[in-house]
Amino acid sequence: MFNILIIGSGGREHAIAKSISKSQLPHQIFALPGNPGIATFAKLLTSSIQDFTAIIDHIHNHKIHIVICGPEAPLAEGLMDFILAKMGEDAPILIGPKQFAAQLESSKNFAKEFMQRHQIPTAAYQKFTIENLQEGIQFIDQLNIPIVLKADGLAAGKGVLICQEKAEAKKELEKMLQGKFGSASKLVVIEEFLKGIEFSVFVLTDGEDYVLLPEAKDYKRIGEGDTGLNTGGMGAISPVSFFNDELKEKVISKIIEPTIQGLKKEKIDYCGFLFFGLIVVDGEPFVIEYNVRMGDPESESVFSRIDSDLLDLFLRCRSHQLESAEMKINPNYCTTIILASGGYPEDFEKSKKLLIPSMDDPNVTVFHCGTKVESNTLVSNGGRVLAISAMGQSKEIALQRCRHLATEIQYEGKYYRRDIGFDVN
Ligand code: AMP
Ligand code: GLY
Repeated sequence: MFNILIIGSGGREHAIAKSISKSQLPHQIFALPGNPGIATFAKLLTSSIQDFTAIIDHIHNHKIHIVICGPEAPLAEGLMDFILAKMGEDAPILIGPKQFAAQLESSKNFAKEFMQRHQIPTAAYQKFTIENLQEGIQFIDQLNIPIVLKADGLAAGKGVLICQEKAEAKKELEKMLQGKFGSASKLVVIEEFLKGIEFSVFVLTDGEDYVLLPEAKDYKRIGEGDTGLNTGGMGAISPVSFFNDELKEKVISKIIEPTIQGLKKEKIDYCGFLFFGLIVVDGEPFVIEYNVRMGDPESESVFSRIDSDLLDLFLRCRSHQLESAEMKINPNYCTTIILASGGYPEDFEKSKKLLIPSMDDPNVTVFHCGTKVESNTLVSNGGRVLAISAMGQSKEIALQRCRHLATEIQYEGKYYRRDIGFDVN
């Protein structure tokens, strides 16, 4: 019996739990803290995900064989290093990198320097601190607009500014270096703006080999037509029609392989998911960002298309047998529409009663993103509340299934984008 601990409480973790639950291998899933949707597949544990000592206790108490960390924050804070330091050889299989490698996501500068060392295509850039603010201002003068300013550290998805005017960019640079995003923006990366279409690819790697997971495109802005404020993501589709064989070959040879080889050359241990946020400019892929985890809501579409046994893939990470794994990917589409709370990504109210009709369509899944049970009632508990995912032989059929359920689910302040997937043929 394999005991598995999933850390996190969103739609991504719900999708991972559902995927593991289909494993042919005997298993028991635990989730910390999980959510009411995840509870269908897992026993929920309580304690803060920041309390690493309590996590070690859970690992001992439940004889955990595999820990999967969903979100980036515990990885950036060194959860995996802590488990290894406390448990040594007895540590479970850890799906998620140690703190040093997690800098691929937690430090834009670390990621940019890594890409530069390994000739991985990315936007041209320079880095600045308050000490060389004047040089930063001169660098802005040399660039074409728009100008992209990025806080080096994690800033809850808000640390990237795209300025349409140089004067605005200079002002923002100064504010960032003076602490607009706290210590995250003590160092700022200024980079060239790339105009193209974004999508993401994902691998599971043991640091030696990797398996390519289905690609996805997410919809980051709150408003239809991709307008308004950035969010965690308002929907996702997979597959991405423009990810043809030619582009796939380029992504593998110019981005994925050099990244895995680069980790190996630099002796950076990496076991876990690696998410490549890409942009295609005139047919050429560039890396916008690395994330050291899966995406949300991309996971809801990606894992729904993986027919391989996910638990078997995790076990192969320890024995370095990923190379011989057979990836079975469902050729059908999976689309995901996020149902959010009115007001998100700014202020919103929680604890709204959720009415979800009972469904008998096996093509459709309602993943829980921000929900909880209050007085025996399922209520909202976050900006992103539910993710409706549907499989279909075409994108249109899948989207139609999602939209049908999106109208049927009821709660006060329900908001969702009606244009997910329409921009890609
Ligand atoms: P990041 O946090 O690095 O993923 O950036 C957030 C979003 O900003 C990305 O998803 C892109 O839409 C946009 N972005 C970041 N860097 C660039 C760039 N160099 N050129 C164009 N858009 C960018
Ligand atoms: N949906 C984007 C992310 O998970 O980073």
